[in-house]
Amino acid sequence: MVMNDKKLQVSAIKDGTVIDHIPASGLFNVINILRLDKIEKQITFGTNLESKRLGLKAIIKLADIFFVDNDINKISLIAPKAKLNIIKNYEVVEKKLVEVPDTIKGIAKCGNPKCITNHERIKTKFTVVNKKKVAIKCHYCEKITDSAHMEIF
Ligand code: CTP
Ligand code: ZN
Repeated sequence: MVMNDKKLQVSAIKDGTVIDHIPASGLFNVINILRLDKIEKQITFGTNLESKRLGLKAIIKLADIFFVDNDINKISLIAPKAKLNIIKNYEVVEKKLVEVPDTIKGIAKCGNPKCITNHERIKTKFTVVNKKKVAIKCHYCEKITDSAHMEIF
């Protein structure tokens, strides 16, 4: 990490995971998807931070937390450009991009108000039909929901 005169907008962590390049509007959805309210370690957030690539971005720093890929890839629904930085002893030891999975179970709501998943207690299930724009197709009613209309729960 090059510090020079560049001050970090959110303090550095010693060990853990930094999720960077989250669109500012997606921060609270990412918090929900990863169930961060259940974590009892130190968590710091920043949002509406300036980013050259995203306009405004959000960042989440999780001390002493390391995710398995399968868990972290769920956030690709709303933060497909998120970058994970694994920190060990203050150094970035690994950088990973999130990957959009082939199928999504739960997490998102089907955008079709008539869909059975919106009327009965059935877990939603989707196949990802467009990984670039992140569009998902409901297993039950075949309605396609794109990322702009995606509701997360
Ligand atoms: N970071 C941190 N604590 C550390 C080391 C890094 O919180 N001990 C954070 C930095 O603030 C940054 C991210 O981890 O948000 C990645 O760090 P680094 O690779 O040094 O930053 P950049 O080169 O700006 O990353 P990139 O351009 O790949 O997003
Ligand atoms: Zn449906």
